Amino acid sequence: MTYTFQRFEAEITDALVATGLIAAEEIELAAPKATNVVADLALPCFRAAKARGTNPAQLAQDLVAAWQAPADGLVERAEVSGPYVNFFLNKAAFAPAVLRDVAERASGYGCSELGSGKRVIVEYSSPNIAKRMHVGHIRSTIIGQALANLYACLGYEVIRDNHLGDYGKQFGVNIAATLHYGRPEAEGEAALAALEEQYKTYNQLMKGKSEDDPDYDPDAELAMDDNARAWSLKLEQGDPQALELWEWMVELTKTANQRNYDRLGVQFDVQHGESFYKDMLGQIISDAGESGVAERDNGAVVIKELTDAKGKKLPLFLLQRSDGGTLYITRDVATIKYREDTYNPDTVIYIVGQPQELHFRQTFALSKALGYTDAKLIHVAFGTVFDDQGQALSTRKGNMVYLEILLDDAHIRAKALIEQKVVEGKTTLTPAQIAEIAEMVGVGAVIYNDLYQDTKRNITLDWERMLAFEGNSAPYLQYMHARCCSIIREAGAVPAEYDGTLLTHEAETGLLKEIARLPQIVREAAERFAPFVVADWLYATARAFSAFYDACSVLKAASPELRAARLHLVEATAQALRNGLMLLSIRAPERM
Ligand code: ARG
Repeated sequence: MTYTFQRFEAEITDALVATGLIAAEEIELAAPKATNVVADLALPCFRAAKARGTNPAQLAQDLVAAWQAPADGLVERAEVSGPYVNFFLNKAAFAPAVLRDVAERASGYGCSELGSGKRVIVEYSSPNIAKRMHVGHIRSTIIGQALANLYACLGYEVIRDNHLGDYGKQFGVNIAATLHYGRPEAEGEAALAALEEQYKTYNQLMKGKSEDDPDYDPDAELAMDDNARAWSLKLEQGDPQALELWEWMVELTKTANQRNYDRLGVQFDVQHGESFYKDMLGQIISDAGESGVAERDNGAVVIKELTDAKGKKLPLFLLQRSDGGTLYITRDVATIKYREDTYNPDTVIYIVGQPQELHFRQTFALSKALGYTDAKLIHVAFGTVFDDQGQALSTRKGNMVYLEILLDDAHIRAKALIEQKVVEGKTTLTPAQIAEIAEMVGVGAVIYNDLYQDTKRNITLDWERMLAFEGNSAPYLQYMHARCCSIIREAGAVPAEYDGTLLTHEAETGLLKEIARLPQIVREAAERFAPFVVADWLYATARAFSAFYDACSVLKAASPELRAARLHLVEATAQALRNGLMLLSIRAPERM
């Protein structure tokens, strides 16, 4: 099925080709960029005119003179504007066509089959075992989920992969500490916090330093004592007790994280950790040696001469240490090979913070140099999170925010706001409804704060803005959706029969045009790996609804026919807003 705007374009193209003055491949229609041009689409005539040795303004005039479009189609008229031909929508035909699109596809409105037959791996979240997720993992989770939703909506087969950090020497310390202090009693994020705490105190014990010590540094490379070192080695060699303790930590972490994932609507298809690829590392190192990309240097394996996709020289890096140990990058290259061999993906998208940008350029360049994959490899980098005092969140500074606490906090704050509305008599809700809505609004606010601007930008945890019922926030969008639902509830029923051609008021057309854009918005957001494109659209659509609602009364419309048509517009708006929010994994309550 094609959507209304696509049909509008197709009608224009057909009519232009029928003039015999221009060929289909010369036609490039675009929305006019200048804000003072009111046209819906424009054809620049420069290229075609040049090919014919005429001037663009002349060609524009000839095209319009010869122009003949179907009378009851989507195109109302064509007009010359200097070197352009401007095209205008037939409002009366446009409105019912858009409403039909929405009604026919309902929760699938906006989606298409563009990507069918293609496979995309989205790797996101990827927290570390025996630790809580910090803000970097939270951002990755939220951005990755939105991108997975977008690609699925476009008909791609999406594999959601959580690349857990479950490999490394630190697990020797974790095991030694657990044997020393015992397994924590707590569950959820609290259990992970307890493991972190044990790790820290054990580390201090080994160094003979306490946190009060002026040169104590929790982030410093761990001073492995003999015991921890021995456990690390045993784990590597597959000692049953070491493995059992490690597996217990993996399960504890996964279970704790899943509670938060459930609240965010996140479900993975694959959760292999880094350790899953450990048996491939030897082959990666020998392939790199044989291909001549890697050199031996004092026992270590080094990559010295490598350029990235843009031809820029990359700084030297290690693939194997002189003690035989492998590195983070060795495992990432192995992962790429495994994914190619197992899934043969068209695209692999990594959602990881900006500080790992060089790491991924090196990983991608080496994987390509070794011929491991022909997939498109994309690193979607994101910025840091600041608190409302303008401080970057960090474990070091002690202002770190963890996921469970963040979501709980959001819930409590949203609940207070909704209760306030109830007290003020602005809405009536039962306690159960309040709790349910508070969860949707609170979690929605957290998600939207991550997605409303370019992922590269830093974000701020500013509750006041995040939870504002006005402005570019999730609660505002959810509130506009709930407004639509309440209008429909008040109307009692939406009449099955209606005449969409009545919807020609400027505010109605404005709203319909926003709704009609959703399919191309989904495409653009996926192509640019940019969920904010959907967020921008949601905000524009919510405002267009608000403008419509101010200008046109629905329940008290001038005639029953107009009332019925407007109710359908309200219903379509609710559906479109809901679909857009769902693409970001934000739920839309029916009342607020
Ligand atoms: N676990 C890593 C961290 O917390 C992120 C992993 C990102 N993905 C990857 N393929 N390297 O920093």
